[in-house]
Formats: sequence, structure tokens, C-alpha cells
Amino acid sequence: MTTPALDELTGALAARRAAGLARRRRTVDSPQGARLAVDGRDVLQFGSNDYLGLAADPRLIAAAQRGAARFGVGAGASHLVSGHFSAHEALERELADWVAPCADARALLFSTGYLANLAIVTALCGRSDAVFGDRLNHACLNDAALLSRAEFVRYRHGDLVELSRSLAESRAKRKLIATDAVFSMDGDIAPLPRLLELADAHDAWLVVDDAHGFGVTGEGRGTLARFGLRSERIIYMGTLGKAAGVAGAFVAAHPAVVETLLQTARSYVFTTASPPLLACALQQSLAIIRGEPERRERLFALIDRFRAGAARLPWRVLPSETPIQPLIIGENAETLRVSEALWERGLWVPAIRPPTVPRGSARLRITLSAAHSETDVDALLAAMSEVGES
Ligand SMILES: Cc1ncc(COP(=O)(O)O)c(C=O)c1O
Repeated sequence: MTTPALDELTGALAARRAAGLARRRRTVDSPQGARLAVDGRDVLQFGSNDYLGLAADPRLIAAAQRGAARFGVGAGASHLVSGHFSAHEALERELADWVAPCADARALLFSTGYLANLAIVTALCGRSDAVFGDRLNHACLNDAALLSRAEFVRYRHGDLVELSRSLAESRAKRKLIATDAVFSMDGDIAPLPRLLELADAHDAWLVVDDAHGFGVTGEGRGTLARFGLRSERIIYMGTLGKAAGVAGAFVAAHPAVVETLLQTARSYVFTTASPPLLACALQQSLAIIRGEPERRERLFALIDRFRAGAARLPWRVLPSETPIQPLIIGENAETLRVSEALWERGLWVPAIRPPTVPRGSARLRITLSAAHSETDVDALLAAMSEVGES
């Protein structure tokens, strides 16, 4: 049986497929790493955000196992009811000290970066306020702005003249500038010092989403440290499922900001705490982020090697000093063709299409990891060169 509502969905799905926009999941059946067993094949992958190669590190696995033995596998409740464990508490203190966005900062854990961004923006802004966001910000910062009911002003990517003008014209009671620190699909770094100057000049909050910088840039402390920035205006959001190799996120900020989130942010208050065993794994991960700078050195050497080779490919590689190295192809169908051709050669490089990126800028989002070897990078370059000629 069908209904008009089902017919509408089926039609919309068919239109997506016809436009080359259908998304498809592949199923991984091995530990995270440079090589994966996927859909019954062994492939070399360049599509995860496990930048330091920690997601399957035996030390993290052992820490998670000890955490499970000590605390069980579920938190049982939200943090404010009965789900806040000593492992969460200890990890929050360590993260606040490590990132230190301002003097005496506190940190608050979230189950995902998505929830953390919703919490920050909705707790700090409401109807009479304005949120200013870079056009290439991650979708969850945009969703957070919409959910807050504040006026949402988007500025062209990196266009601080436009942002400055919008801030000056705004009559909003409270202002909040939100930016990815490392843009997730382009890999470039936001001009944080200039953004902080604008926040100071216009008495605005500055939300820095460092999902892709934490653990990698600033000797692992993240993008604020890369620029040597600290301020009471900064609200730092770092995710823990990318370079940190586990799951979750945290906000680090002035204690008054953190306490406000804890008391009022709905995506903090009304959700079950993440399993404490993950906090145990994350304490181990943070120890490695602090203690093994050689992982970042290796990653940056691989980035240099990739960029040197990619300059000879027929596609444009965006300027990026981070592990995110996007290769712009343009059309959806051609992007899928290249991604499929690489897959046929045993390489998994995901095709990224609108709405994740602007129309006409479909791309291969190549991500590098300390888990890769030089030979892996050379294999990718050789396969891309072959596919580029075909
Ligand atoms: C820039 C950015 N912010 C936030 C998120 C959301 O983090 P999470 O995956 O932990 O929800 C992501 C990616 O997932 C991201 O790339």
C-alpha cells in the first residue's frame, strides 16, 4: 500500500539520486586505522578524522576496559540527575587546564559536538540577540543559531569587512560571533586574532568550534594556542571523536559561562551523560596528545608530502596546512566518478557534495592521519594521477 505522503518521499528520494546527491553508507568491519575492512574489501582510507591514529590505540582500549570494569557501560542518567561520574569530573579539569581559553577556565563535557554547539548558542542568545556566523561554518553551528531564535547574520567566508559592518549596524542586545576554527570541508584556519578584535570592539562573545584543531594544532592544545589567544569572551568547543579518537565534546570557558550552560542549556540538561568509560579512554588519549608530539610531527610531514605531490594533479587542492586536504572537482557526477575509480583501486576517499559544501564545489575530502605511512600517501597520489588521466 502507498499513501500520498509516501509517494512524496519516494519521489524526493528519486530526485536526489538523479541529481547525484544520494548518500550511501558503507559498513566497516575492522578497527579504525589507515586500512579498513569495508563492505567485504580491504581498503586504504583517507576519510576519517582520526588525525592522530588514536581511535584503535591499545592504551585507549585498555583504559576503556578498565573504565567499564569500574563504572559499568552506561551512565544511567543525565549529569544533573545521577550520571556525573568521577571520570567525567577529572577529565573536565584536565581539559580546562590543557586548553585554558582564559584564566581559571572551567570545562563541561557533552556527548557530541553537535549538542555542545546547540548548548552554547541557545544558552547565550535569545530573541533580542544576534548571531554572526561564517558561511562555511559547520551545520550544527547554523542549527544552533536557528534554534536560539536570535537574528542570524551570515557573512561571506572569512570576510571580516562584511562582518565588521554587520556588527556595527546591529542593534541586538547581545551579540555572538561563531566560527569554525579549522573549516571542516576546506581545511583552512579562521583569522581568530582579528575575530577576537572585532568581538572586543563590539562587545560580542566569540564561539570557536575547534572540532578539527583540538589535538592537532597549537602543539595539541588547539587553534587558540596556535595564535596565543586567551580571553573571557572566548567560548571554546573541542570535539573528542576526531583527533582524540573517542567520542564526545567539551566546552571550555569562563566559569560563569560554563555554569550557565550547566544550569540552563537544554542539550546538556535533558540528555543522558556519555558512558564514564569513554571519559577514562579520553584521559588516556589526552595523556598521549600531551606526551607524544611525534604523532603531530609525523602528520605534518605527511601533509607536506601530500601537498607536494598533489600540485601535479589535474585538480585544485585548496590551501590548507591542516590534515583536511580538499581536492575540488566541481560537478557531483564527476566527483562520484573519481571517488568510485579510487574505490576500484582499493582506496576509500569520500565524495563530499552539496548541501555539505556549496553547489558546484563538490570535492574529495582527503584527510591524513598519523596512522598513514609515506607509502600510503604515495599510493594515493599515484592512484589519483592515474584516475586523473583516464
Ligand atoms: C566543525 C565541526 N563542528 C562540530 C562537529 C560535530 O561534532 P560531533 O561529531 O562530535 O557531533 C563537527 C563534526 O562532526 C565538525 O566538523
